[in-house]
Formats: sequence, structure tokens, C-alpha cells
Amino acid sequence: MMNIPIAKTEFTEREIVNILKPLRSGWVVQGPFVKEFEDKWCTFTGAENSIAVSNCTTALHLSLASLGIGTGDEVIVPAFTWIATANAVEYLGAKPVFCDIKLDTFNIDTSKIEECITKKTKAIVPVHLFGLSADMDEIEKLSSIYNLKIVEDAACGFGARYKGLHVGNSGETGCFSFHPRKAITTGEGGMITTKDGELALRLRAMRDHGASISDHQRHFGNKPYLLSDFPYLGYNYRMTDIQASIGSAQMDRANDIHIQRSAIADKYDEALKGLNWLRTPLHNADYEHGFQAYVSLFSPVDIVNRNNVLNINSRRNSFMDHLQQKGISTRPGTHAVHMTKYYANKYKIAPEDYLNAYIADHCSIAFPLFPSLRSEEFKFIVNEITNYTL
Ligand SMILES: Cc1ncc(COP(=O)(O)O)c(C=O)c1O
Repeated sequence: MMNIPIAKTEFTEREIVNILKPLRSGWVVQGPFVKEFEDKWCTFTGAENSIAVSNCTTALHLSLASLGIGTGDEVIVPAFTWIATANAVEYLGAKPVFCDIKLDTFNIDTSKIEECITKKTKAIVPVHLFGLSADMDEIEKLSSIYNLKIVEDAACGFGARYKGLHVGNSGETGCFSFHPRKAITTGEGGMITTKDGELALRLRAMRDHGASISDHQRHFGNKPYLLSDFPYLGYNYRMTDIQASIGSAQMDRANDIHIQRSAIADKYDEALKGLNWLRTPLHNADYEHGFQAYVSLFSPVDIVNRNNVLNINSRRNSFMDHLQQKGISTRPGTHAVHMTKYYANKYKIAPEDYLNAYIADHCSIAFPLFPSLRSEEFKFIVNEITNYTL
């Protein structure tokens, strides 16, 4: 019996050897390994500044807080994303304003952004879902017309490029996740990228209770006995050196990880292209996909709409159940946040208000993707998908 997970955390000897170093040195939080990981992240993504934090949710919260988002403000977020994108806005007393998505990319529908903008709109959080960049040209155009800050939710964005530029480099900040479902993982972890040097300094302070110098700088400076000043309201969003030692080791094989994931996605594309009931991920020369996940739309009819979505959902679930019985794990891509109880109740939103997000929630399906997926496992998955009788 096969037992193929949706994703697998894969650590090599490199990570295992590296993790011992902070343990042996005794310096285990926001020290030299955090700095090393940040430097390698800058090199890989082309970011000018990288600031490691405890996870991507705190990266989003910190970014929005550092840009002054607060009570009474509105922030546009796609309706189909992980709930953390909207939660980060809620934490600040601001209102997340949902925008529908496009079903071919699962990303924010830029033609619907303008109708979400009011006098209170201060920022937009485009999400590069599953590793596919949002349409950043259009988002940047709107942000300059309406004076909106851009915080990129690049939780899934490792390896994703838009017109050659790694995601996380267009907005005020880019926020990445190192949760185990992501291509690079430190257990929990996050990274903020920014080209703004002053903002970077503020973010470094705010991740560390608002302190103007870090414990490491103070400890190895000439007056370790004096405490820092605290010019900002900060948080404890530090990353540990234990996590960063794993991340730093993984960055040494970042290119390989990206190439391996893309190769598996290419093989899925090739194997599934004849199926007219499965819309596989869109990507083209302008959008280099990072493939955090390989997510398709289950659509055994020409058009999924409000009338047939529940029926298609039940057929998708039967398909998922069939694969589960065969030992193949699948998952919905992610969820429609406007349909979760908290948001639906608080803002009185109906599922149909963001119809594509609703459809994506009910009809998307992710297949297993991880570098060590064996070729016999891959063949087995593809065989079960292509021979499935609808
Ligand atoms: C789109 C998106 N945003 C934010 C997050 C939150 O990331 P973290 O779990 O690192 O806080 C995730 C995690 O799955 C995500 O997929």
C-alpha cells in the first residue's frame, strides 16, 4: 500500500550538522546564524534587506504595523488565501476588505481592486499563492494612483519571479514563511524583505520589543552593561539561531530545491495535460512559478458557477477520497477566508459575495509535491488520476 504525503520536510546532514553549532555555542536567539540566514536570503532573492522573524503571520503584522496601519484603516486582501493574511490586518484594528480572485491563477483579480478602494484604504496585500506571483504591474499601477502601500504576502513565494524579479521586491515589504509546508523550512519561521533601508531598521527594532540595538550587538559591543533604548512599540517576533541554522543550511541548496520542485511540476503538467476536467497551474515566461504547491481546479463542466459549485464540490471530494483510499494525499489549495465563521459573522459576508474564491475553496485540489517524491510514486499518482472515472 502506498502512503504518499502531500508534502515532506526533508533535512540533510548539512542541517543536522549546522543545528549543533548554536547549541554548542550557547547563543541561541537572533545571533550570528540569523544574520547568516538573512544574508543568504538577500543573495537568493536579490533583496536589499532581509529581516528574519518568528513566522510569516508576524512578518505580515510587523510590516503593516511598521507602515502605520491602524484603527479605521482598510486593507485590501484576496478572499482566497490563508487566514493569516486577513488576521494580520485585524490585529491592528483595521478592516480587511476582501477582493475576489481569478480562477486561472488563484490570485487577486486586479480588475476588481478599484471597486474595493475607499477613502479609508491604506494598503493592499497581494498574495503570491502557491508560488505564482500576483500581477504586480497592475497592482503597482493602482498603488501609485491611489497611494496605497503594498505588503506582499510571499509566504509561498520562494523561487517565484515576476518578469525576472523575485517576489518580495516590489512592495514596501515582502513576507515569507518557513512553515513545514513551504519549500524552505525552519519548523516555524518567517522573513521580511524590503528595499527601504530606514524601514528595515525600524522592522529590526520592532521585531525585538522596539529595541534600537539587539542583544547580540550590545553583548559584543564595548558597553554590554547598558540596556538599549526603545524608540518604537515593538513585539517579540525574533527568530532563534536554532531555526536560522537550519534555514542557512537549506539556503546552500536553495537552487537545487527550486529546480527539483519545478521539475516535478513540469512532469505533472505533461502527464495531466490531456485531462479536460482538471485545470492545471498557469505559468508562463513572465511568471516563473515557485511551486510551493501544485494546485489544480477540479472542473468537470465548462463553467463552475453558483448553481453547480456544491455538486462539483461533492464530486471533487469523491475524487479526493478515491486517491486517499489508494494512499495518495491531496488537499484543497487553501480556503476562502470570507467564508470562515469569524469573518462571515463579523462582516456579514455570504459565500457568493466572492464567487471565485468560493469556487476555488470548494473545487481546488493540491497533489503531492516534494523533492524526494520517487518516480514510482509519481507514476502511481498520475496513473490513479488519469484513470479516474468521473
Ligand atoms: C498565503 C499565506 N500567508 C500567510 C501564511 C502564514 O504563514 P506562517 O504559518 O509562517 O505564519 C501562510 C501559511 O501557510 C500562507 O500560506
